[in-house]
Amino acid sequence: MIKRRKIAFIGAGNVGATCAHLCFLRGLGDIALFDIIDGLPQGKALDMLESAPVLGADVNVSGSTDMKIIEGADCCVVTSGSPRKPGMSRDDLLKINAGVMNQVGAAIKQHAPEAFVIVVTNPLDAMVTQVKRVTGFPKHRVAGQAGVLDSARYRTFLAAELKVSVASVSAMVLGGHGDDMVPVRSYTSVGGVPIERMIAAKRLDEIEKRTRNGGGEIVELMKTSSYYAAGAAVYRMVEAYILDRKEVLPCAVYLEGEYGVRGLYAGVPAVIGAGGVERVIEIQLTAAEQAAFDSSVAHVRELVEAMDKAVAG
Ligand code: 2OP
Repeated sequence: MIKRRKIAFIGAGNVGATCAHLCFLRGLGDIALFDIIDGLPQGKALDMLESAPVLGADVNVSGSTDMKIIEGADCCVVTSGSPRKPGMSRDDLLKINAGVMNQVGAAIKQHAPEAFVIVVTNPLDAMVTQVKRVTGFPKHRVAGQAGVLDSARYRTFLAAELKVSVASVSAMVLGGHGDDMVPVRSYTSVGGVPIERMIAAKRLDEIEKRTRNGGGEIVELMKTSSYYAAGAAVYRMVEAYILDRKEVLPCAVYLEGEYGVRGLYAGVPAVIGAGGVERVIEIQLTAAEQAAFDSSVAHVRELVEAMDKAVAG
């Protein structure tokens, strides 16, 4: 008998639920929603389940405030944590969410010891580091989602600029998930044509600036973070893992020498398949791109150090 896969969402807010709904619609596996707000995971699970007869979905959906709901999950998506509120410093947020990651990591280790874990909580690069430390899972089983979303924004803006299908635009945004993320022009193309032959450098600068501020632009409009695009980006990683697609996706991956980085998470192209992060693809960057990548990675290191200081202090 082939057993259905189980995908657990730790955090059933906007991003978690949007991704869960996509997994449900596409029948990727049974869905388990966890959240600390009583009624929310149970309600969203029931609501989703009641759409099954209309949509013809045959997977199960359950929700609970008890972490046992994630028991035996094949894949865990972590979105829980606090967003930055007025008056809260970055270090306050780092401390609060690192504490959440400690609890979540311990629960995953206990209830889903074989899972592939995808962390989405911000500040992403520090939070995925903390989950890896707490679970003690090997690096191929803990990754962060940021690059798929950032690259999707870049592709959206490039496609709109050129009035072409988004499907024709390949693009990659690497580095940390911050204002200094690195849209990699030399690996961005439209129908195979290098982007720099299609759009003038000055205009590309503007599009890349908008890409880097993509998360902020959405918050400005909605007063809350992105969830359609963010949920879709996480979905892409879950699908690549569950269906063993071996898709090359930009993800936050623990590096041990690749790109000259050791002992740190950073966004790089990686092969995602049934083995989780199966391989890091090392691409040749231009000198300017490498410098921008190094600077972004330096900020990730500072972020992790600030988290450790905040937690210790
Ligand atoms: C974003 O980039 C907040 O990480 C989220 O939209």
